[in-house]
Amino acid sequence: MHGLATDDSDYALSDRDFELIAGIARDQAGIVIRAHKSAMIRGRLMRRLRALQLRSVAEYCELLRSPDGGRELPSLLNVLTTNHTAFFRERHHLDHLRSDALPETYSRALKHNSRVRIWSSASSTGEEPYSIAAMVHASQPPKSLDLRILATDIDTDVLDRAERAEYSREVVERAPADLKPLLQIEPTGSSDMVRVGAALRRHLTFRQLNLVQEWPMRGPFDIMFCRNVMIYFDGPTKKSIVDRGADLLRPGGWLYLGHSESLSPPHPAFELIGRTIYRRR
Ligand SMILES: C[S@@+](CC[C@H](N)C(=O)[O-])C[C@H]1O[C@@H](n2cnc3c(N)ncnc32)[C@H](O)[C@@H]1O
Repeated sequence: MHGLATDDSDYALSDRDFELIAGIARDQAGIVIRAHKSAMIRGRLMRRLRALQLRSVAEYCELLRSPDGGRELPSLLNVLTTNHTAFFRERHHLDHLRSDALPETYSRALKHNSRVRIWSSASSTGEEPYSIAAMVHASQPPKSLDLRILATDIDTDVLDRAERAEYSREVVERAPADLKPLLQIEPTGSSDMVRVGAALRRHLTFRQLNLVQEWPMRGPFDIMFCRNVMIYFDGPTKKSIVDRGADLLRPGGWLYLGHSESLSPPHPAFELIGRTIYRRR
């Protein structure tokens, strides 16, 4: 067992080691990390150094290069992902969902197979899929519908947290005042933490899914959220995800992208119908 790093030089990330980490992020998760992010990456690796009680970043990179390196990859990807999110983030998407997409989806489902499927494809710690569930609940779906929300992410740590549905009061307080009651928060054993209501939680299924690998679902989905994740990918990766998203969305279904992720050039399968809101043709 090694002691922890004590000298600043132990934390250094050499160009060669940066290339290793950036190469893993690109090849395993599609995430592009540019050289100016080196200090941020070094900071994130500290979590792994502490957990493994390693003395230096160089030692950690040797572990990655060793025959045992493959076993470390999921934990490395967990620290490399950026998980920033919030309840009702980019609120106009959630407002559109409640006022337009959900009512139309329900009417259609009642005439067809009663099935409603929604996918939050980079769900992070759960604020996005629970915000979707809050809008579903508020829009009073007909009881006869078979309605599921699938929430996926590559990062197993955030998925565990999302599944627990427990948030600090501070995080919940940041939600817009008029929407906060829709989360139907419940007390937990701790005075600082609250839980999203059971009526919302029951709509959700959490699964690990890497957007740049195979997607096991057959769909079709009625609604897909793919927000604030494609900013980390290069052009061909983004295009391939949008192509596959188009195949999985039913005609007339909706795709919500993050505010800085508009489809450029326009995609033939999608019509832009609002700010970063697209409709499958
Ligand atoms: C910035 S968060 C966005 C969360 C939420 N969609 C939102 O807009 O608030 C980005 C999420 O994408 C996930 N992610 C990054 N690369 C991914 C990949 N290849 N496959 C699936 N999820 C990925 C990260 O783990 C992270 O939780």
